[in-house]
Amino acid sequence: MRVLVIGSGAREHALVLSLRRDPAVSALYAAPGNAGIAQHAQVRPVDPSSAEAVVALATELSADLVVIGPEVPLVLGVADAVRSAGIACFGPSAAAARIEGSKAFAKDVMAAAGVRTAHSEIVDNPAELDAALDRFGPTWVVKDDGLAAGKGVVVTGDRHAARDHGAELLEQGHPVLLESFLDGPEVSLFCLVDGETVVPLLPAQDHKRVGDGDTGPNTGGMGAYTPLPWLPEQTVTAIVEDVVKPVAAEMVRRGCPFSGLLYAGLAVGAAGPAVVEFNCRFGDPETQAVLALLDSPLGELLNATATGTLAEVAPPRWRDGSAITVVIAAENYPGRPRLGDVITGATEATQDDAAVLHAGTSLRDDGALVSSGGRVLSVVGVGADLSEARAKAYDRIASIKLPGSHYRTDIGLAAVEHRIAVPTQ
Ligand code: GLY
Repeated sequence: MRVLVIGSGAREHALVLSLRRDPAVSALYAAPGNAGIAQHAQVRPVDPSSAEAVVALATELSADLVVIGPEVPLVLGVADAVRSAGIACFGPSAAAARIEGSKAFAKDVMAAAGVRTAHSEIVDNPAELDAALDRFGPTWVVKDDGLAAGKGVVVTGDRHAARDHGAELLEQGHPVLLESFLDGPEVSLFCLVDGETVVPLLPAQDHKRVGDGDTGPNTGGMGAYTPLPWLPEQTVTAIVEDVVKPVAAEMVRRGCPFSGLLYAGLAVGAAGPAVVEFNCRFGDPETQAVLALLDSPLGELLNATATGTLAEVAPPRWRDGSAITVVIAAENYPGRPRLGDVITGATEATQDDAAVLHAGTSLRDDGALVSSGGRVLSVVGVGADLSEARAKAYDRIASIKLPGSHYRTDIGLAAVEHRIAVPTQ
């Protein structure tokens, strides 16, 4: 099977590493990829959001399967174009990708499917903002009703900060979604979905705030770990049965069946799981940890999802133990990051239990590896338990140098120290 992965982040690097381990994958390409992905797949330039360009490249490469990593091409209908060209594609149609692309659409689907989620209201003019804020919070949850790579969300107890963010979004012409705050620890559950067939992967937890102790602004994710030792085993089954399957069935009923990776972001409170958001693709950085524990051939799972035969393949098998990933970010991220700094210590061969996955990296003309994005590297550690996985990742980080960079030192620490529990009534 000849596979083309679209995207250029550490998530796509993780997908490439897993696909490379699948004996059924005979040729592996990534576009546009990055300097790290280029060590494991043949990289080609492409504009991921151009359906025409992606189809032309997939055709030129005689790809049997195209795997689309990021949400923007999916929302723009790139998967539809690939399928129309007769090539199997892992990733939902534009109609189904609205589950991420429009929070209002997602809320409507959840209401129809009877799925628990936060109460929400859309505000589309400044005159309504103050009155709407009075009906919510504290804590206020103020979101951009569109794609914002995690950075469009402000969760705050400060009414001024909530108002300023809402006003700024409205000034930019973006409708604002206000939500009631959901209590309880957050869980990311990725499910392969093919119509009404739902196959969960391991549950993971992201760390969205930039600083240790969950301080500072929200980011696209600073680290993640899997599995979740504090999550009762039956909760994954409850999420699949009570959340993901009803939503998948509702999408089928609406004539926009979901095919690809449905990412349920949930808060697990005393009353059970409630949805914070759905995404229409693998999450970043959770994927880097989840795929590190996958023992089944990834190509087979993605191809079965893309070709409507997911129900016929064996469920994924997992390595014992834990995995974590820690994001190394450029100076000033999540603000405008400083770019072009030389990175050392990140290019050594990937080891099985401590991999360095690239996101915002590129090669300078003189061959030096330099930062070219806000989130630069994702370092993955795998161990017999979460403590060992943390030690492996942080040991590996110690050998990487990037001037001005920062990373969180507490990824997975609250779980190791038994400081996370699902609240009881
Ligand atoms: N982990 C956050 C995201 O992928 O959107």
